Amino acid sequence: MDFELTSEHREIQTLAREFAASEIAPFASEWDRDRRFPAEVFSKLADLGLMGVCVPEEFDGAGCDFLSYVLVLEELSRADAGVGVTLAVHTSACTLPLLMFGTTAQIAQYVPPLARGEALGAFALTEAGAGSDAGAIVSHGTESATGWHLAGTKQWITNGSFADTFIVFARTETGVEGPRGISAFILDASQVAVTREEHKLGLNSSSTVDLVFDTDVLADRLLGERGRGFGVAMATLDGGRIGIGAQAVGIAQAALDAACAYAKERRAFGKAIGEFQAIQQKLATMATEIEAARLLVYRAAMLKEHGKPHTVAGAQAKLFASEVARRQTSEAIQVLGGYGYTKEAPVERYFRDAKVTEIYEGTSEIQRLVIARSLLGELGRPS
Ligand code: CAA
Repeated sequence: MDFELTSEHREIQTLAREFAASEIAPFASEWDRDRRFPAEVFSKLADLGLMGVCVPEEFDGAGCDFLSYVLVLEELSRADAGVGVTLAVHTSACTLPLLMFGTTAQIAQYVPPLARGEALGAFALTEAGAGSDAGAIVSHGTESATGWHLAGTKQWITNGSFADTFIVFARTETGVEGPRGISAFILDASQVAVTREEHKLGLNSSSTVDLVFDTDVLADRLLGERGRGFGVAMATLDGGRIGIGAQAVGIAQAALDAACAYAKERRAFGKAIGEFQAIQQKLATMATEIEAARLLVYRAAMLKEHGKPHTVAGAQAKLFASEVARRQTSEAIQVLGGYGYTKEAPVERYFRDAKVTEIYEGTSEIQRLVIARSLLGELGRPS
């Protein structure tokens, strides 16, 4: 077992950290306040090769491994979690499933523009009546002479207003209910319409929308096997959850950084507050929990990289890291006191941003269900 990052990992971590410190962190509270999607940041990330960091070089990616991608997500999320989720969905939920399930022609057409950052990706699974119960989607696809007619509505679609390529799930098999009978399709932005932009508690620099589609697509837009789309969605989320774990670690680390800086500078009762054990205990617990979360995330990333089962490891990493992020961003506010509760300090933003990591890409309750099923087998499933 080796807990050290390689020199290549450290190099990409430093690249992302320096970029985030100069191009993201100084503007993050402004984007949050103005609810602005910073499109220019993604062009700059593309110039650095970070829009396709774990995509093979033959498809115009940077050719790094999945852990490198996770390190990038952690560093970007430390500066702005909205930027983090935009890259996470673009990569884990669009580019990687195309690589995993696409035909040679689909990969050649869609992956290089995504990896170069000329196109942005999105993943449209969730519907008003199908959130945690993803198998309950009602969007449908009907076979036509040339391919499919797809119709439906989707909710809470990250990147929706800015994406060029969407992976969309629809029910294609009649007489089959639940997770079976769903297929995955590749749609262009011209084939979907944004009907509403969500106003969220946090992640205000990211785009979250409702979508509607009613469109004909050629047969070559089917991604993976017909009727096996739920497996495409689940395999995608297995990797995506590791990325959200990294996002949570980045947010929690930012909160710890802010709490430590304040503890050194703020004076009370004639001393820096960091000299009081009450504050020291908080900082020590924060640092320990964040490190434990980080190790779970890196371990899950390495399992995925080595082609080993990572469903449970990813669920555990996301579950633990997201709960650490929610708990420890709250503790950071406590360390900063009244100042932490205002817009003067970034920790209230970290707190708002952290909360969603317990919700999207599968709630904490769904992560526990996935973990419990692996422990209990059939006993863990509803009868
Ligand atoms: N990999 C591959 N296949 C899988 C799988 C996995 N990890 N998990 C399940 N499957 C397969 C099963 O083997 C089964 O296949 P067969 O039909 O061949 O038997 C099929 O999928 C159905 O599996 P289940 O019976 O386990 O399905 P279920 O209805 O009990 O649901 C669930 C399982 C885990 C609850 C699933 O619905 C789930 O993950 N829900 C949460 C949805 C979610 O995470 N949404 C996130 C939206 S995207 C997002 O948030 C992005 C963003 O914006 C940030």
